[in-house]
Amino acid sequence: MLLHEFIKNPQSVGSVLSSSPQLGKRMASYIDTAEDGWVIEFGGGTGSITHEILQRGVLKRQLLVFEKSKIMAHKLQRRFPGLKIVSEDAARINFVRLGGLKIKAIVSSLPLRSLPQKDVLSIVKASAEMLSAGAKVIQFTYLFRSASPWLDAGMRKVSSEIVWGNFPPAKIEVFERC
Ligand SMILES: C[S@@+](CC[C@H](N)C(=O)[O-])C[C@H]1O[C@@H](n2cnc3c(N)ncnc32)[C@H](O)[C@@H]1O
Repeated sequence: MLLHEFIKNPQSVGSVLSSSPQLGKRMASYIDTAEDGWVIEFGGGTGSITHEILQRGVLKRQLLVFEKSKIMAHKLQRRFPGLKIVSEDAARINFVRLGGLKIKAIVSSLPLRSLPQKDVLSIVKASAEMLSAGAKVIQFTYLFRSASPWLDAGMRKVSSEIVWGNFPPAKIEVFERC
């Protein structure tokens, strides 16, 4: 499924392979389940990370997934009935009504290094505006050296780790709203 979407739009999908369970588990481990608030997932794709976020104990009613591809969003919805999935660009995060509840974490699989730079800037800026101090962004990347666009949006990096149990190995970076 990801391969089909990758062939149509390689810049937007970023990879032909789903994220591994290990990568999803490690990303989800940074979510504080004791804290109240929304978790937003960007780029749900096949749902491998969505699954691990739910396994972590995040309530279905406090998880919202942005998946731009209509086909992927439709398949995700069939895999996770009752989950809120919007087939929208992540840059439209500020149009979402969250019922007054804050966002505690954004978990992102967006290929920020391959998307057009102006799109990336819109996504990180719109997101940072929605976050209050202490909220986290958990992002993975296959590029180990370049600086993350989240830093341009006033977020500070609080941790980073490499997950070798993924093909290709991936780096998770965690940012916090200052
Ligand atoms: C690396 S892939 C998905 C990885 C996912 N964790 C998986 O294992 O399937 C990135 C996903 O982000 C989606 N995407 C790309 N740009 C987006 C945007 N601006 N807003 C929302 N989703 C986007 C793509 O359609 C794709 O499904």
